[in-house]
Amino acid sequence: MKIRLNNIEETEEEIQSFEKFKSRKRKLTPGKRNVNQLVTEDVNGFSFNRSDLEELRSNGSLDAIISIIKSGKEASVYLGKVSEEFLAVKIYTDLRVRSFRRDDIYRQGRFIGDARMEKAIEQGSAKGLDARQILWVGEEYRQMNYLYNEGIPVPRPIAISGLTILMEFIGSECDAAERLSDSVLDRDEAEDAFRQSVRILESVTAAGRIHGDYSAFNILWHNGKAVVIDFPQIVNIGSNKLARELLLRDVNSLCKSFKRFKIESDPDKLFRRLLMIADF
Ligand SMILES: Nc1ncnc2c1ncn2[C@@H]1O[C@H](COP(=O)(O)OP(=O)(O)O)[C@@H](O)[C@H]1O
Ligand SMILES: [Mg+2]
Repeated sequence: MKIRLNNIEETEEEIQSFEKFKSRKRKLTPGKRNVNQLVTEDVNGFSFNRSDLEELRSNGSLDAIISIIKSGKEASVYLGKVSEEFLAVKIYTDLRVRSFRRDDIYRQGRFIGDARMEKAIEQGSAKGLDARQILWVGEEYRQMNYLYNEGIPVPRPIAISGLTILMEFIGSECDAAERLSDSVLDRDEAEDAFRQSVRILESVTAAGRIHGDYSAFNILWHNGKAVVIDFPQIVNIGSNKLARELLLRDVNSLCKSFKRFKIESDPDKLFRRLLMIADF
């Protein structure tokens, strides 16, 4: 199903197209095939067959990748380890082997600062494509860092290299937290989850940002706490002409995604409140 709003276009499929691994079965062994694809073994031990993972390993940020949490079209998220600590490892799929979602709407107002690079991006050359995806991933990390420092519940960003981001793993032991879109909640929990999700949306707005893909699909539920994820498409309210539309879309997707819990909400009222917070 396509969601169309002015010239914004995004497929819901994109958000939902991932392989789901049942949490019980996810423990340690599953996804080995996916993990093995990242590793080369020989008599000297193992190495990652991606330079970004190798860089993270050599600077001591990552020791191993244990299993896959979710694989999707845009990125796959793995459970990693450093010393005794678990990490989430988000690896973006190379642009050349995926159809890149339209990023021009989100790119607007982002600072690149290199005229040649800007030209290459505009022209869509191979070099431009490389730059575009590096910027896209870098933006996710930068925005996650910004929101984290604002005290908003997001995973703690740990490191970035190439198309890979390391961040705090949200889960218990090696069992990843469920997304709210998959969680089974009783009435009180669902209301609490909605309240927290609205509060996060208000804080993100107050921080001058629009998530751009906000819904129960991008909110994890861990020990009764909502944690928001997935930030490459974030926009700055002040520098994007479509900010209002994007904010409205986030409000509507949030409310719609909570319908499965039978939460009655008033998106118009919420939108008006956010407009005041954002000071449009
Ligand atoms: N920090 C994390 N801790 C645990 N699980 C995570 C974490 N980040 C992402 N995930 C899991 O990986 C999935 C995909 O991550 P997300 O950032 O939403 O990427 P995308 O939707 O672009 O594939 C999430 O729905 C969630 O299940
Ligand atoms: Mg997501």
